[in-house]
Parts: sequence; structure tokens; C-alpha cells
Amino acid sequence: MHHYTQGKPTRQGHKGIPEGCFEEEQGLKGFFGPVSHLIKSKPSTRWTDIDGPLRPHMYDLVKLDRAAGSQRLLHNNAVALHMSFIDVLEPQSATSIRNADGDLLYFCHKGNGEVFTEYGRLQYSPGQYVVVPRSLHHTFFPAEKSEFFVVENLQSHFEEPERGLVGRHAIYDPNALQKPELEAQHARLKELGIEIKEIAVKRLGETTRFSYDSCVYSDVVGWKGDLYPFTLHMDHMMPLMSHRAHLPPSAHTTFVARDFVVCTFLPRPLEKDDDALKVPFYHQNIDYDEVLFYHDGDFFSRDNLHAGMMSFHPQGFPHGPHPKAVKSVGGKTETSEYAVMVDSRWPLHVDAGVEQTELKQYWKSWQG
Ligand SMILES: [Fe+2]
Repeated sequence: MHHYTQGKPTRQGHKGIPEGCFEEEQGLKGFFGPVSHLIKSKPSTRWTDIDGPLRPHMYDLVKLDRAAGSQRLLHNNAVALHMSFIDVLEPQSATSIRNADGDLLYFCHKGNGEVFTEYGRLQYSPGQYVVVPRSLHHTFFPAEKSEFFVVENLQSHFEEPERGLVGRHAIYDPNALQKPELEAQHARLKELGIEIKEIAVKRLGETTRFSYDSCVYSDVVGWKGDLYPFTLHMDHMMPLMSHRAHLPPSAHTTFVARDFVVCTFLPRPLEKDDDALKVPFYHQNIDYDEVLFYHDGDFFSRDNLHAGMMSFHPQGFPHGPHPKAVKSVGGKTETSEYAVMVDSRWPLHVDAGVEQTELKQYWKSWQG
């Protein structure tokens, strides 16, 4: 289809919206595809009731049972989202896991520590992504109790986003990806006296245990290649922005995978032009489910929102700036939110274990 207009459109999306009017973006392919901007006399969230599963959901993951270890939250055939809680271990209690079901992306919400892999040691702290490709065994060794929002990639591998016009070093420099340290790990395992002789392998949700007669991290004396676990910290990311017009969430893409993307929202200045939208625009992300995990910062856009919460907006739910965000943006010149978004091409199913943490009245907060 070619670009076409009717009535009185704006010249530039998310900017110059006539006083008293509202812009709604209707787009395909998660902001990458065909898109139209409708200028409306009323916001697209002007429903008087929503009855059914397309209500927007909010879960308070702080209420999850930490003792459970791990809890799957949402899933489909391409991606599964979990919360994982890992306690400090005695060195002799450390175990090794290998996920044959898919790549794992651990986002550290709380805690810090080390991850041992055959490729070497990685270190993590709050705000850090730890990416472990499928079937590479690894051991978390926390220095303090740690909490992770985990994205399990079931059909593909995590890749860097196309940076196109802005060049290879935008968003994050490839050099910001922290690589495993092999020599440091050998010394550290010796210092800790760690001898792990079993690998628990998960495949199709079932566990198979492989036993060995010596430590599973002691064999590698060297390696080379472009497949290895790595980390990326939010502090080493450079969010894109335009001072003139609001950019779509896709500008904040951190990793791409088949049928979903992972985006990172970071503190940044708000748009400076007087006629620019400073809050997320009303939109129908027509063919994507949207999940947002709130990590840290001042979530000025909402009441009663705190770190450790997760929102889930199913496709088919038109939304935009939360009514409270419109009121509270006021004279603000910057946002200080830290959040991780997962946009899924296919509908996500809610796991029973997370339903108990749902804020049942959340959907009503959208009524303006
Ligand atoms: Fe959205």
C-alpha cells in the first residue's frame, strides 16, 4: 500500500496534534511495519467497560514466593518469561544447569554475583543482562540473594538489533558486551574450592542429570569463536532519542529473536519541542502482545507502581499514555524509568502461579 491521507492529518507523527485532539497510531510488525496515524476527537481509551481477557493486566511479582526458586509467568511457543530467585550458596552446594530448550536471558533485578561457564566467569549486578546460549552449562554463584526476570528464547537465538542509519556503535557498542574470563574463573574456582560434578539438563521441561568424576568447569584450557555467554549492563547502553518527536518503543530494541524482541527503557531527556508528545502515544500495536517489567526509577507515569511489577497488554487492547502520565508529565524534562519490555508476535498465555499476584482493578486505572 502507498501512503495516503484523508481529512486533516498532521504533518509529523507524535507532534503538532491539534488542541483537544488525540493521535492514535495503528501499526503492524511491532512499530517496524505499515502504520497510520488517526487524529481523533476522543482518546482511543474512552471505553466505559472491558469485559474479557483483553483487559490490561498488572502483576506484582514482589508477591511471588521467593522460596519456590523459579516461577514461569507467561509463555507461548517462541518465548517463556520467568522470575528466578537464587540464594547465596555454600561452594559445595553449587550446581550446574544446561537449558536444551532455548537461550536464556537473565535480567538481574536484584543482587550481584558470578556466573561460571565453560567459557569463563561472568559477573552481574542489578541492571545487567546475562545471556547464555542454548545448551551451555552454567552455574550462578550469588554474592547476595539475587532476583532475575528471565526471557527463555525457545525457537531462535538472541541477536543484536539492526542499527541501520545510526551506525554499529549506537544503542550499545559491541565492545560493551562483557566477555567471559577463563583464567580468572580457574583461579576463582580454586579459591572457592568449587568442584561441580553434575549437570542438570532441561529438555522439554524434564530434567536429565549427567554425572562426571571431576569438575565440569576444569577441562577448557582455551577457546575461540563467536558463540559464548556474555553480559550487557544498562549503564553501558545509550538510548536513542529525538529532541523533536517521540520515538517508538522499537527505537529501544536491545535484542531481537524470532517472533519477539527485548527492549530496554532507560532514563533520558524528554522531547523539547513544545508541540511534541512527551508521553507514549495512543496506539494499537496490532499484532504484538506487550510485557513490561519495571526494574527501577521513578515511574512517574503511574500511581501505585513499584519496582518488581510486570504489566501485560494483550494485542487488541488499544492504549497509550496512561491518564496519570498525561497529568504528571507536567514540566518534567526527563524520565528516570528503568524497565525491560518483551514484545511478542504471538499471544502469550498466563501461568496460574502468577495470577495470584494480579492487581485485579488495574484495568480500571486506564479510564481517563
Ligand atoms: Fe504499547
